[in-house]
Amino acid sequence: MLYNWKYWWRSLHNHNYFIIKLGVSILLVGLAFMLLYTRSTGFSPVTDTPFLGNAQISPPPVVPLISQENIDGFPSVDDAGKCNLFIGDWIPYQGEPIYTNESCSFIEDHQNCMKNGRPDTGYLHWRWNPRGCKLARFDPDRFLESVRNKSWALIGDSISRNHVQSLLCILSTIEKAVEVYHDEGYKSRRWIFPTYNFTISVLWSPLLAKAAIFEDMNGVSKSEIELHLDILDTNWTKQYQSFDYMIISSGKWFVKNAIYYENNMVLGCHNCPKRNFTELGFNFAYRKVLHNVFDYIIRSNHKGMIFYRTSTPDHFENGEWFSGGACRRTVPAEEGEFGLSEVNKVLREVELEEFEKASAKASENGVNLKLFDVNPLSLLRPDGHPGPYRFFQPFAKDKNAKTINDCLHWCLPGPIDSWNDLLMDMVVNVIIANIALWMAVGWTTLSQADIIEYRCLVSSSAAELAARPTHTQPAGLLGHGRVTMK
Ligand SMILES: *[C@@H]1O[C@H](CO)[C@@H](O)[C@H](O)[C@H]1NC(C)=O
Ligand SMILES: *[C@@H]1O[C@H](CO)[C@@H](O)[C@H](O)[C@H]1NC(C)=O
Ligand SMILES: *[C@@H]1O[C@H](CO)[C@@H](O)[C@H](O)[C@H]1NC(C)=O
Ligand SMILES: *[C@@H]1O[C@H](CO)[C@@H](O)[C@H](O)[C@H]1NC(C)=O
Ligand SMILES: *[C@@H]1O[C@H](CO)[C@@H](O)[C@H](O)[C@H]1NC(C)=O
Repeated sequence: MLYNWKYWWRSLHNHNYFIIKLGVSILLVGLAFMLLYTRSTGFSPVTDTPFLGNAQISPPPVVPLISQENIDGFPSVDDAGKCNLFIGDWIPYQGEPIYTNESCSFIEDHQNCMKNGRPDTGYLHWRWNPRGCKLARFDPDRFLESVRNKSWALIGDSISRNHVQSLLCILSTIEKAVEVYHDEGYKSRRWIFPTYNFTISVLWSPLLAKAAIFEDMNGVSKSEIELHLDILDTNWTKQYQSFDYMIISSGKWFVKNAIYYENNMVLGCHNCPKRNFTELGFNFAYRKVLHNVFDYIIRSNHKGMIFYRTSTPDHFENGEWFSGGACRRTVPAEEGEFGLSEVNKVLREVELEEFEKASAKASENGVNLKLFDVNPLSLLRPDGHPGPYRFFQPFAKDKNAKTINDCLHWCLPGPIDSWNDLLMDMVVNVIIANIALWMAVGWTTLSQADIIEYRCLVSSSAAELAARPTHTQPAGLLGHGRVTMK
């Protein structure tokens, strides 16, 4: 009898313990889902902790897994207390780049600085360090796990192409991408990572709007661009709904000489002295087109994640690209050392203003539109451009050879690789950090080990959920066979 009672007590005890744990786990799944659900309608930041203001909840028993370390006392956090990933510093990095000209075959010759013989390598040893929080290095394995069956697109000009090559090089350390499409000029392309059924596209649409461009292979223009301010380029819009994630960008191309159309009639131009059209200024055109782009996005009912990447600065010194300008630096600039050029300032002002206007409307409409503001951190990297190493061994024959410098695109490997650290954070880590924080705050009964385990279990499905249409059920999380209690 005594034995039985003891046995019964113990089993009840175990049973209870199990039930408590089960209950906790169900609640956590619910909480995580709630969080992800609210996230996908109005995306909120890393440290959104609605529970912290609630007096009934005791302080977290464990330190949140994602520590909000405050580096050199500079709180680069916004009004809501969230870390701004784009305010920070380039700090020395001892490690080697994740890929090289030997290991990656996706690097365009013009940006293959290693192969082209750039002698210094210091520019490879910096990493971006946001001041308000820690930024993990891009983890290609985890990234690919979390984007199974997904499709990404980078839409824009040659800087988008530069970026896609960086991403392909990093991901190809896990599995080599296979090209499945390219257009005639190899400007729009698509690759697949077969094991993950993950596709990346780069879509050539330098102005995002309908345009006739009269340039030869070397970028020499025969006539002004004919740009339709009121018609978006179908090169990207027709595929828009097929992508789960998009990084859209533009900028530089608007500075070129152009004739602007609206309703298929000439409205004016930028820089067309030989013609009798009104000079409207490129900022006028950029604003109009961006307004239309954002309007399209806002109304699109798209359920994935859309980033608007800000345009990036160039670093020509002592001239322009056509007049002997060069970029000879070998270390990052100090903050404030480089200002944006007048043109870049105008572009930036327009894109920030138009984004700001669009952003609120997007979240009202449940569209997940985010700013990917790499402009300021790129401004600090005058050392990251190919310069003369746009060409193979430019000084092999004549060490004083005159070359045209590229101080606009980025060496690969190079500073642009850091953009992926930021993307990874915005796409994958944020969600996990939130779950961990919720757990730490709300569930005092859980040990650190439980939390870590839980975090591992939900990580891939959580990322997947974030990109899932809000009207579907959270099957990815709830139906996940591995979310069980021990
Ligand atoms: C890579 O770059 C190095 C110089 O940094 C060069 O010696 C080597 O031949 C290059 N390899 C390829 C495959 O381009
Ligand atoms: C790949 O992903 C798409 C969704 O993006 C899905 O429709 C398709 O069935 C998947 N293919 C395989 C082989 O898993
Ligand atoms: C990917 O798609 C395939 C086929 O549609 C499906 O069996 C698989 O579960 C999907 N994987 C993820 C992680 O969604
Ligand atoms: C759309 O793509 C085609 C093929 O790549 C290209 O010829 C055309 O110029 C593109 N349109 C714009 C506006 O760039
Ligand atoms: C230029 O345009 C203005 C107004 O559109 C017109 O009055 C003028 O005659 C035009 N000049 C020439 C040389 O075509």
